[in-house]
Amino acid sequence: MNFLVKKGNGLAGEISIPGDKSISHRSIILASLAEGSSRIYGLLEGEDCLATIEVFKKMGVGISLKDGICLVDGKGIGGLKEPDQVLDFGNSGTSVRLCAGLLSAQRFSSVLIGDESLSTRPMQRIVDPLTSMGANISASDKGTLPITINSVKSLQSIEYSLPVASAQVKSCLMLAGLFAEGETRIKENVITRDHTEKIFLEFGIPIEIFSEKTFKTICVNKIQRIEPKDIRVPGDFSSASFFILAALICPNSFLRLNNVGINDTRIGFLHALRNMGANIDLINQKDTPEPTADILVKTSVLKGITLDTALVANMIDEMPAFFMAAALAEGLTIVKDAKELRTKESDRLQAMADSLNAFGISYQLSDDGIVIHGIGSKGILNSAEIDSYGDHRIAMASAIGSLRSDDEVRISDCKNVNTSFPNFINICKSVGIEINEYE
Ligand code: S3P
Repeated sequence: MNFLVKKGNGLAGEISIPGDKSISHRSIILASLAEGSSRIYGLLEGEDCLATIEVFKKMGVGISLKDGICLVDGKGIGGLKEPDQVLDFGNSGTSVRLCAGLLSAQRFSSVLIGDESLSTRPMQRIVDPLTSMGANISASDKGTLPITINSVKSLQSIEYSLPVASAQVKSCLMLAGLFAEGETRIKENVITRDHTEKIFLEFGIPIEIFSEKTFKTICVNKIQRIEPKDIRVPGDFSSASFFILAALICPNSFLRLNNVGINDTRIGFLHALRNMGANIDLINQKDTPEPTADILVKTSVLKGITLDTALVANMIDEMPAFFMAAALAEGLTIVKDAKELRTKESDRLQAMADSLNAFGISYQLSDDGIVIHGIGSKGILNSAEIDSYGDHRIAMASAIGSLRSDDEVRISDCKNVNTSFPNFINICKSVGIEINEYE
């Protein structure tokens, strides 16, 4: 599936962004481990989260989706049953890494697989610490999927300092820690998204958190029982980022995005854009377990910046959208310390560089970053043909960048947009973006 996008003008509208992917995965996982019925409101019904649902169904959890409500009949902390097939996580790094943590503690074996993209992504980062906890787990020789987990009698707690800034690794170990003897202590040297900490507390799981400005330690203990809980999932800030970008770069535009998650550990993109001169307001802020707001965005004149490296982890999924904003800002934007982008659904540094190149933007790419030569608010991008490399965020960032092309842009291999944003096209059309799919 491919996109054809026409240049744009005058976007307007008030939209609801689908549920947060990270929180949706965690809601399904925690509700499955709880004893009894939980309801999840606003769950993202994208392919990644549907893969998580299928995985837990294969382990005996009753899960149904009806009228926007996901009903989970959790089996309790010790209640999962051995799957009689391999567990297929599709495109989802979050799902496979988080689930590997809890699967390592089960009294049954499992084999974890994924699609072509997920099968190239690094898994040793979870295999190593889980092995230290006593798990019988192995990845392929290249440190990728498939992962094979054999049953063990018990896991032991560890004290682990995360060598990479990764909420997925942190969360994997927090989930394993729920089953391990003793206290598992996980130290983050860079603060990453804290949805697992928040949802553990929401489900009444006692954890302790010691934080300093730039690092944090989370302590998790073995638990006997988790009570079911109803969860409300806010709109996904990462999905919202494409519409924030659209309103900023498209002339004469004003958009309102309702009920979007604005967790502090997720909104580096907002801070970076404001530093570039973006006109973005947050109204109607609510401090529910996961904070939310309505976001108002207007067309803005953007200036290039040197991105504060402290923001990188908190805008890691928004980098493709940020690169497009930089391309359309006045002057240079400098990004460093962003090597993790090379380990995502595609090598996002390279994939975005290729996209910028096709649009006619100059840049210098390095191992861990990029310098982008922005063309400013009057600049026009080439009518390009772009390869998204099957990466949903490259496809959506490039589609939105196309609004500033001199005519129209074709983007190939876009079907994975359904992993995180199933109704992207319809929401685009509702605010005036001329975008169509073709085979
Ligand atoms: C996620 C963490 C991030 C992010 C991913 C979702 C999560 O990955 O890129 O899309 O839900 O924990 P890393 O932890 O690998 O940085």
